[in-house]
Amino acid sequence: MSVTAETFGNPFVSRFMRAKQAGSFTLVIFGATGDLTQRKLIPALFNLYLDGFLSRPFTVIGYARREKTDARFRAEMRAAIEAHSRRQSENPELLERFLASLQYVAGSFEEDAGYQRLKERVAQSSLALGAPQNIMFYLATPPDAFPKIICALQTAGLVSEHGEHEPWSRIVVEKPFGHDQKSAKELNRIIHSVFAERQVYRIDHYLGKETVQNILVFRLANSIFEPLWNRRYIDHVQISVAESLGVGTRAGYFDEVGIIRDMIQSHIMQVFTLIAMEPPAAFDATAIRDEKVKVLRSLRQMPDELLKQSIVKGQYGPGSIGGEAVQGYRQEESVPSNSMTDSYVAMKLFIDNWRWSGVPFYLRSGKRLPKRVTEVGIVFKAPPHLLFDRTDGSNGDTNILRFRIQPQEGITLSFQAKMPGQEVRILPVRMDFMYSSAFEAATSEAYERLILDALTGDSTLFAREDEVELSWRLVDRIIENFASSELHIYEAGTWGPEAAESLLARDGREWLRL
Ligand code: BG6
Repeated sequence: MSVTAETFGNPFVSRFMRAKQAGSFTLVIFGATGDLTQRKLIPALFNLYLDGFLSRPFTVIGYARREKTDARFRAEMRAAIEAHSRRQSENPELLERFLASLQYVAGSFEEDAGYQRLKERVAQSSLALGAPQNIMFYLATPPDAFPKIICALQTAGLVSEHGEHEPWSRIVVEKPFGHDQKSAKELNRIIHSVFAERQVYRIDHYLGKETVQNILVFRLANSIFEPLWNRRYIDHVQISVAESLGVGTRAGYFDEVGIIRDMIQSHIMQVFTLIAMEPPAAFDATAIRDEKVKVLRSLRQMPDELLKQSIVKGQYGPGSIGGEAVQGYRQEESVPSNSMTDSYVAMKLFIDNWRWSGVPFYLRSGKRLPKRVTEVGIVFKAPPHLLFDRTDGSNGDTNILRFRIQPQEGITLSFQAKMPGQEVRILPVRMDFMYSSAFEAATSEAYERLILDALTGDSTLFAREDEVELSWRLVDRIIENFASSELHIYEAGTWGPEAAESLLARDGREWLRL
């Protein structure tokens, strides 16, 4: 089956999309020489600019320790755009104009002098923009710098107000947001000593992915699926985030956090709550986040022994991916040779509420798996009585709805069909919706959506204070149990430890093939 987007050429749709326009602003990026700025933030801003979403005057000020001139910073960002932007402009003048809006201030995160220089630049830029000093601070630094920067911004008098109207001040905070519930609460306390919650945008780039957002549209803009979205019809849910890459150059960070903090606490919990939440009263930040928080509150609190049986942690050993030999986690640069850090976690969770009572949610995420794929599988119950023999000889699940979040974003529904012929023989077939063939427009990058939302004051796709604290509650419990649970070494290029297969096999189920 093919699906086409009938409305995409519709002028109303284009008008609606353009209605979301950033006003005039100054964006200060802390950590401007880092990987995130070069690979994601500047390319995202450039694409927003090309699409006409940044039509009012703006300035982007990079702030980092290293001394460098504006010209040097612009040259580096030009190279970053050439290397990482999803597209280049056909009109070279647009790139020049975009680069002209970039400036650079050198300063440490600790000393006041740097922030004073920053303040002067912000004042000059506001004067030049001829607009109120709307200012967005973006923390793209290692997390230990967050508290220092936040406090220094206040001391320097850079945060102007707590209201919703112009001129506004906002702050975008990158992950990881704390390393446990206690530190997340402390970070929230520090942030709130300077910013009101409505000024805070805790970013999780998974929420900026089109297919993640489409989960809610699919569920709530169609009438045929939501009636089935519960324990009566759904056997279980699987969420898998597989990566073929290893830790690469990020071992220093990763070895401290493991996959449980890096992926489960943030990205997987976000996808999980969108799948499980109740329909919100409205499509706005408060209503949606209220419902996500209710899911987290309803997570079953398992006793230690049961929790231990519901979690499998693994670490990749040497192996091969795509025919290429790759080293094991402990052989990676900067990883201690006796590291016990998890590069794979699989788990089974339950939500104790009316909708989901008794329905297991199986979540898994791992590095150095055979391929990069993120998918949600909703596995429906088998028909109560099967009249037909299955030709494929399997007793597998009949109806599976898959949200493919990446790559090849789309949605697939599998069902049984009669094979052509005189006999009644049945075989599973699929209905496919692919974003790339249904919509002409290229899917924008998650950071484009999220930066524009923060600039326009829409916090729907950002994590709220209570949401991050509650997701840490689960992760803290798991980590407490990690110390005494076995670390399974799996061969790189396989789908993770055997024990993860057993986690489902014990329940008479198996992981969906990705
Ligand atoms: C980041 C994690 O948040 O997400 C990385 O820190 C991970 O370890 C990355 O590789 C995955 O993001 P994506 O968009 O490539 O799935």
